[in-house]
Amino acid sequence: MAESIVMGFESSCDETAVALVADGRLVLSSQVASQNDLHQRYGGVVPEVASRRHLEVLPILVGQALRSAGLGFKDLTGLAVTSEPGLIGALLTGVSFAKGLALRLALPLAAVNHLEAHLYASELDREPVEFPAVGMVVSGGHTEMHAMSGWGNYRLLCATRDDAMGEAFDKVAKLLGLGYPGGPILEQQARSAPASPERFPMTRFKDRSLDFSFSGLKTAVLNSVKGRVLREAEVASLCAKFQATAVEEVRVRVRGLLMSVKPKSLVVGGGVACNGPLRQALLEEAAAFKVVLRIPPPVYCADNAAMVAGLGARMLETGRGVGLSASARPSGSLEALRL
Ligand code: KG4
Ligand code: ZN
Repeated sequence: MAESIVMGFESSCDETAVALVADGRLVLSSQVASQNDLHQRYGGVVPEVASRRHLEVLPILVGQALRSAGLGFKDLTGLAVTSEPGLIGALLTGVSFAKGLALRLALPLAAVNHLEAHLYASELDREPVEFPAVGMVVSGGHTEMHAMSGWGNYRLLCATRDDAMGEAFDKVAKLLGLGYPGGPILEQQARSAPASPERFPMTRFKDRSLDFSFSGLKTAVLNSVKGRVLREAEVASLCAKFQATAVEEVRVRVRGLLMSVKPKSLVVGGGVACNGPLRQALLEEAAAFKVVLRIPPPVYCADNAAMVAGLGARMLETGRGVGLSASARPSGSLEALRL
């Protein structure tokens, strides 16, 4: 018999998701409805369109989650919802929906930070993370690394100064005419290129900061394309060259931070962590420094609600971020969680 069964809701961007998690880690059901079909023709997420779809789909996913787990509302011990960061309208639909349900069912509600949920995904269906850890979020909206002494306790080590890594994949895929969302399509294209691709020049800051920047890399791809009609093989080579450079940018930072911070674990989350070459590079670096790599399987790297329900269960246990006063916020950093 589980001590807690938490229902989680995710609607911060273009995925609507509802999940049920027992005791903070065991996933009983994870329902995800992608909106790719809606946004494809615009080449990116249209916020108002996303919010409207969330509203339609949330109640349907709640029914599906309960049915697939063989549970009813009476079995739930708490609720959790992503309240920050994200598209404000999209967040509001999830937060309002969850608050309504919390009132109706008289259940406690935890307001979850989406980035922390991405990191927490590494505990789903697995043992707890060993701290201290270095945490890295690589998604469509964020690319940042933190020193973690526990859940809820973050110190920013480096972050992107411009595009997030996923955003760079999406923009490069768009300029190569590959479609949306670009990350997975670009990875697939790169697979048909020769095995060891060349790389574009790497980012270097004068102040020797470990911060990321992907705008130069994006421009390098743009300059290689300008005014030319590319053959299929050339597109594949460019994808491979871009991907190899982006992955190397992560590798050098991970290596530097594992060397200086000396954590027990490297915790990774976010949609870009689905990328095969990135996962391989992280495996190699973690092995070289004898650090435990905690990276979820791809289904829990991409946006989902199991990570929200799992983290929410932990927050409900400790009382952090619990209550009906939770509000949707478009920004929201991990460091602020400590305050
Ligand atoms: O975490 P996520 O689902 O949503 C945000 O919180 O942003 O991440 C979505 C991002 C998109 O930019 C998408 O292109 C990227 O993750 N992505 C990938 C891959 N799969 C998804 N990027 C590179 N390679 C992939 N295989
Ligand atoms: Zn995400």
